[in-house]
Amino acid sequence: MFSSDDIKKKLGYAAADYVQNGMTIGAGTGTTAYWFLQALAARIKDGLEVVAVPTSAQTARVLREQGVPLKDLNEVDSIDLVIDGADEIDPAFNLIKGGGAAHLQEKMVAAAAKKMLVLADESKLVAVLGKFPLPVEVIPYGYRQVAKKIREKYGIETILRLRDGKPLITDHGHNILDCHFQKIEHLHAVHAWLNQVPGVVDNGLFLGYATATLIGYKDGALVYTEK
Ligand code: A5P
Repeated sequence: MFSSDDIKKKLGYAAADYVQNGMTIGAGTGTTAYWFLQALAARIKDGLEVVAVPTSAQTARVLREQGVPLKDLNEVDSIDLVIDGADEIDPAFNLIKGGGAAHLQEKMVAAAAKKMLVLADESKLVAVLGKFPLPVEVIPYGYRQVAKKIREKYGIETILRLRDGKPLITDHGHNILDCHFQKIEHLHAVHAWLNQVPGVVDNGLFLGYATATLIGYKDGALVYTEK
């Protein structure tokens, strides 16, 4: 049996095989994507030529340390392939992301990408999204009003995410409300409703972005599935 860390490492290294010479790659964020960043850097040292568009400041830092050529999203026309993790994946490849608070930039990169490969261990597979609290990125001003509106609409708990006892500040200067839906039946309706609330920047539902998944199992198997 493989540990969770071993599975993440296997996924990251296997994912690097999907990168081809000359590609512009979206580089994901999180503990699974971290191993992909390491594997990508190793392939670049062996001669692979790619540029990477990072999905967070943390990923940019890791890639810079490894000498991976970086570009900002504004400097590219499109992205060939983004490789990223997820917090939940449903059978249609809809995702919840943002456990690492990077979903705004991750979604912008995914939206610019022709393909998205999602890396996850089997524990992230669910029949219906929502057990993982949905991260909603809000501007700090008046966030309590946003939390109240979400509570009133869905009757759920909304918790301001803290880091070291203080409200977490995202890479783009926002806060996160973690919304405890338990089950999100009408994904598109929830996504659209949340994003029209004044003060909401974006939420962690990724609907229709993922084109493939690479799932790691405890017995060491990795299963690639394309839409
Ligand atoms: C970052 O904000 C997230 O979207 C991550 O991609 C997601 O939380 C998966 O992270 P792990 O690979 O660390 O579980």
